[in-house]
Amino acid sequence: MKRGARTTPGPSQGGGLLVIGHRGASGHAPENTHAAFELAFEHGADGIEFDVRLARDGVPYVFHDARLERTAGVAHDADVHSSTTLSQMYAGHWFNRRFPNRAQMEYLWEKIPTLEQVFERYGQHTLYAEMKCEDVSRQPALARAVVELIHRYGLARRVIVKSFALDSLAEVKRLAPEVRTAALFGRSWPRPLVPTAHIIAEATNCGADEISLHRSLLREKTVEAAHGRGFEVLVWTVNSPAALRRARALGLRAVFTDFPGYLRETLDALLAEGNAGGEIA
Ligand code: G3P
Ligand code: CA
Repeated sequence: MKRGARTTPGPSQGGGLLVIGHRGASGHAPENTHAAFELAFEHGADGIEFDVRLARDGVPYVFHDARLERTAGVAHDADVHSSTTLSQMYAGHWFNRRFPNRAQMEYLWEKIPTLEQVFERYGQHTLYAEMKCEDVSRQPALARAVVELIHRYGLARRVIVKSFALDSLAEVKRLAPEVRTAALFGRSWPRPLVPTAHIIAEATNCGADEISLHRSLLREKTVEAAHGRGFEVLVWTVNSPAALRRARALGLRAVFTDFPGYLRETLDALLAEGNAGGEIA
């Protein structure tokens, strides 16, 4: 095989298509909260994806945005606060206001989780932990903190670490070669259409095991090249049956969806059709 992916053993290596809850079941409950994570598993997700940031005191916590406004209602940067302060902030009120048809009273009490709480509660599942840190000087500290918790909870075979910051993934591999990693390539990174050769080279250079593409980058040629180098390929965000069928036809390993229950049902129906000799792609 040409130089390419690592093949670190883990839950996302080999096998059929996984349905992963993107920020949990974030279409039905406030993203990156226990409510969204628990619902994802109730709805039959194979795993969850969530975002990990580094609090001022060096504790990793689970939150998407660099600012607190959108989901915690505080007009301030997020990472400048201590984990104790962040853990006291409510992160579900916005969801009830934005999606009144899906609002639940109990979402009002959802708080920002720490990574440790997520590992404690869901460590038996497949967990995609996406490191986010705009301050490049703090990225190595985030990688170290994530690896330290993975080791403390014995989750090297359960957690796959993702990031757009590929140097951070290289740092994870340097510290813990036994942890699987996924290199992220988004719509706007580094320009609208990212060449396949660039994706493969960047993923190879940071020692990743998997390539995670925004759906706008999902091309047959890219997937074939990635598979040819031994990478598992993942795509986000997949919320429709048509996108799910395409992911399956291309032999992807995982789809990240805001509606894991809907995708699970759709995938099960496709599998049943396939078993009955029906057309799948
Ligand atoms: O895991 C891929 C995806 O979550 C990256 O985009 O903005 O949803 O974190 P975002
Ligand atoms: Ca994410």
